[in-house]
Amino acid sequence: MAGGLGVAVFPGVVAALLARRRPITMFIGARTAAQLLPARRFAGADVRAATDDGSAGYRGPVTDLLLRGGGYELFACGPTPMLQALVQRAPVLGISLGSIQIALETPMGCGLGTCLGCAVPGRGGGYLLSCQHGPCVRADRLDWSRMTDAFHD
Ligand code: FES
Repeated sequence: MAGGLGVAVFPGVVAALLARRRPITMFIGARTAAQLLPARRFAGADVRAATDDGSAGYRGPVTDLLLRGGGYELFACGPTPMLQALVQRAPVLGISLGSIQIALETPMGCGLGTCLGCAVPGRGGGYLLSCQHGPCVRADRLDWSRMTDAFHD
């Protein structure tokens, strides 16, 4: 699931999973159709789009497209409000947060664990560093109530 920010990694993710013969559903969301990556960038995946203005696919948040039930892995990247909506909605649909990998998009100053510019709140207190513990982390390792949106606030 990609909500604009961070979508660039997903053509590669889809290709890697297809090489492993994994069935893939790709949920992409954006404000308008013009901001969506073309479905051909995810060749081989079942692509489902959502836009805020309804100019392509479902009209509304991409998180509304989540499939009920577990039994699959979910990779997600997007603005913090989208990810927060995802982690609120997933358990309601029977999807455990432990089955969701979040690709963190944080400012990174050093990439070495010294500047703390990439810190994100960890579940149970403290912080994780995107450059050291990520950039992909399981959704249940993060404290979503303390998460801020570094790029959109
Ligand atoms: S980028 Fe500096 S601590 Fe992670």
